[in-house]
Amino acid sequence: MPLNQQILLDSRPTGEAVVSNFKQVSSETPALQDGQVLVRHHFLSLDPYMRGRMNDAKSYAAPQPLGQVMLGGTAGEVVESRSPKFQPGDKVVGMGGWQQYSVVDAEQPGALRKVDTTHVPLSHYLGAVGMPGVTAWYGLVKIIEPKAGQTVVVSAATGAVGSAFAALAKARGCRAVGIAGGPEKCRYAVEELGFDACIDYKLHQDAASLSNALKGVCPDGIDGYFENVGGMVLDAVLPRMNAFGRIALCGMIAGYDGQPMPLTHPALILTNRLKVQGFIVSEHMEVWPEALKELGTLVATDKLRPRESVAQGIEAAPEAFLGLLKGKNFGKQLVKLI
Ligand SMILES: NC(=O)c1ccc[n+]([C@@H]2O[C@H](COP(=O)([O-])OP(=O)(O)OC[C@H]3O[C@@H](n4cnc5c(N)ncnc54)[C@H](OP(=O)(O)O)[C@@H]3O)[C@@H](O)[C@H]2O)c1
Repeated sequence: MPLNQQILLDSRPTGEAVVSNFKQVSSETPALQDGQVLVRHHFLSLDPYMRGRMNDAKSYAAPQPLGQVMLGGTAGEVVESRSPKFQPGDKVVGMGGWQQYSVVDAEQPGALRKVDTTHVPLSHYLGAVGMPGVTAWYGLVKIIEPKAGQTVVVSAATGAVGSAFAALAKARGCRAVGIAGGPEKCRYAVEELGFDACIDYKLHQDAASLSNALKGVCPDGIDGYFENVGGMVLDAVLPRMNAFGRIALCGMIAGYDGQPMPLTHPALILTNRLKVQGFIVSEHMEVWPEALKELGTLVATDKLRPRESVAQGIEAAPEAFLGLLKGKNFGKQLVKLI
């Protein structure tokens, strides 16, 4: 069995996460038991939720245990099988973690999913045609519930979740507006992802200035807002919301290192009769088949062209992850492991 390079959580962050919170080790891959398969990971997905799990704090999911392999989504290939359900060569996605190989109990429902790479590249099953894409789909379709002609806005618009948003919103006849960091990301949002407009929040010193810029590109107000960031961006969007608007609260990355994020005008939720709903995509497995079908078709027909930031080698994972939390990624952040 092959030697396996792994990244463990070695210590919990105090404030900002740092490289020394992680530790790389190598270990023997255990021999397969009946019903198990050996998966060689081609790609590891890096996602903001991992930052929350590094803390020993109450949340919707248990903390990442110290001294264990970092949890994470993986896409790869079955290289050895003692299960009738999988053959060597099958392309699969699962939760293999920050390591080169994983031994998976193939009998466990949902542990490993075969994917078809004929029209969709393997890596996209960790992005637009995977958990982040379904996240965009759920927040837009089930919480924002947009109607044709309405204006919908998303923050972190060019990231893994945000980049699936415009194609889904345009398919429903909406005006789609993005908020992203920097001119290059904003240009990409409009020219490649299909947003009608994109605002560079880094050009604005305060929420009032950002809010004014939003007014310019959302002349009819905002009917649906998909929140990935929080802080100043949420403060800027709230005054632009139309009566009976819907806010899908997906993420608040601006506060993941523990920064307080006070809301300046919460009364706007009342006066505008807004619906604000948080959600966790893994709690809505019932929508995944429908969402993945639409997302897969959008990618296969070139209507959604997601971009990826790919770090090379397992040893690059900690730096790439810390970069993701600072917006250094451009599109879905992955680590290529072979
Ligand atoms: N609820 C769920 O089930 C669920 C599932 C998946 C993801 N999420 C959440 O969705 C959000 C996006 O996730 P993702 O995987 O698609 O990540 P991502 O957008 O690919 O990467 C994170 C992006 O956040 C932006 N960002 C970072 N710090 C920021 C700050 N202080 N202010 C403004 N923007 C900042 C950066 O983009 P800019 O350069 O444009 O600022 C960065 O590229 C995260 O909040 C994540 O936790 C939630």
